[in-house]
Amino acid sequence: LELKMNIEEIEKGGYDHFMLKEIYEQPRAILDTYRGRLRTEQGLIKMAGVDEHLDKFMNANRIIIVACGTSWHAGLVAEYIFEDLARIPVEVEYASEFRYRNPVITDKDVLIAISQSGETADTLAAIKLAKENGAFVFGVCNVVGSSIARETDAGAYTHAGPEIGVASTKAFTTQITVLTLIALKLAKEKGVFSEARFREYLVEMETIPAKVEKALESNPLVEIISEVYKDSTNALYLGRGYNFPVALEGALKLKEISYIHAEGYPAAEMKHGPIALIDEQMPVFVIATKLGHYEKVVSNIQEIKSRKGKIIAIVTEGDEQVTELADHVVEVPETFESLTPLLTTIPLQLLSYHIAVMRGCNVDQPRNLAKSVTVE
Ligand code: G6P
Repeated sequence: LELKMNIEEIEKGGYDHFMLKEIYEQPRAILDTYRGRLRTEQGLIKMAGVDEHLDKFMNANRIIIVACGTSWHAGLVAEYIFEDLARIPVEVEYASEFRYRNPVITDKDVLIAISQSGETADTLAAIKLAKENGAFVFGVCNVVGSSIARETDAGAYTHAGPEIGVASTKAFTTQITVLTLIALKLAKEKGVFSEARFREYLVEMETIPAKVEKALESNPLVEIISEVYKDSTNALYLGRGYNFPVALEGALKLKEISYIHAEGYPAAEMKHGPIALIDEQMPVFVIATKLGHYEKVVSNIQEIKSRKGKIIAIVTEGDEQVTELADHVVEVPETFESLTPLLTTIPLQLLSYHIAVMRGCNVDQPRNLAKSVTVE
């Protein structure tokens, strides 16, 4: 037992928990995921799984993304990216719903299955259904040689390295990285992006690891904020556009490991329900970066404030307007709007981590949850 404990300590690399280690590994994991693929000098993105089946992507009527949990949230971010950059219609489905609802699938569809473990039973079943109906099936997995990696027609691995903490962190950001690379590649191939715009993106992508590093520097501040809200019984997470899925993911992280009821919502949808919950007890985490409907989010923040909700905002460095209104702000570096989820998600991961630790929860192995769900 002692030996086992020592091995685990070594594996944690000086961190108290795997989750914190994995949060801090993200700059490296993102870099490892685009390394060799993103080739700025040559002005191209090389991904064997896409290159070999380019016609399937180019001729696709639509892309259907299937996944579960955090991977489903990465799929939602990808929906914005594929539609915005590559102008391909996208549907994102919970694998468990898709497989049982007699979906319309044709050989003009590309199905992308996203799964960290590559073993999720519902995602695997969705893949089989899509294949039977003639769709081309592409996998985005982290575990090499996993069932989903083997069942798909082609794919691209995330290079996050082993993820041990049950709550997914680096798998999420590396999934978004892979999906962004695919969308950029298709944007260029389809002529939606000029050569110059494409290159700008490649250069910006290469700044992301350093910017994630910068976002991680918010850790001491996030710890102070966590102390203030650790005894909350509810929390609301709001975002718009690219950062709506980040709000969902932030809420999921808090639920999973600190057992606080949390809901993610599109900021504008708040007035159709959740606003009724807001009082001085309710922390509301709002993603309010400069690019991405900033003024609209500011007015949502004013609505929360007038109902005395506590506002914790994730903002772009140098922000003034939201900083004035909010109770707390956490800054992240500026980047292209489509790449902001890679940064805004970082303080929310840290927040759920600290709150869980402060509440004495088992961070790496939360109750009732499994790292991979191999039964339906
Ligand atoms: C479980 C895990 C989550 C994960 C989900 C999907 O619920 O606890 O962290 O996001 O399964 O797993 P997958 O391996 O398919 O990404």
